[in-house]
Amino acid sequence: MEQYRVLLAEYQTKLEEFKQDKRFKYACSTLFGWHENFRNYFIHVLLEQDKPSKYLFGRLMTHLGYHHHAEEEGIFVVMRKRFNVNIDQLQEDHDLIFSTEEQVRQAFEANEKNPSDENQENVRDRVHTLMRLILCHLMREEMTVMPYLLPMRDYFMYHEN
Ligand SMILES: [Fe+2]
Ligand SMILES: [Fe+2]
Repeated sequence: MEQYRVLLAEYQTKLEEFKQDKRFKYACSTLFGWHENFRNYFIHVLLEQDKPSKYLFGRLMTHLGYHHHAEEEGIFVVMRKRFNVNIDQLQEDHDLIFSTEEQVRQAFEANEKNPSDENQENVRDRVHTLMRLILCHLMREEMTVMPYLLPMRDYFMYHEN
């Protein structure tokens, strides 16, 4: 939780800086837009729920799975090969999110088979922990990738003209 707060403070400062750049809305809109959808329509809703919706959780993880796959095939490759950026931490985040998702599904199943306050609390704790993990990843990823995306707008404009 403390790690989340520290990261959030750093992220908010950096995001303000990125947004000052007039290229932000062109160069970062795809990545930022996807992440904002995850945050606003899924993650913060689930974090507010004492009994997290299994349906909403499933929808989030499906979309996030596609998103991670696209990143691993696209922007991660560009970061490594073209910019020589170490993105091991981001890949580790993806792997950890994937393995933790399975534990959350098991918690949902246990509570369905044997509903109890304890099992319900276990679902909530695991969902909330995973949501914070995902929030941390989204912030880390934007702070790592956005500095490289901003000049790419110029790169594409140069080649369009
Ligand atoms: Fe990612
Ligand atoms: Fe992402």
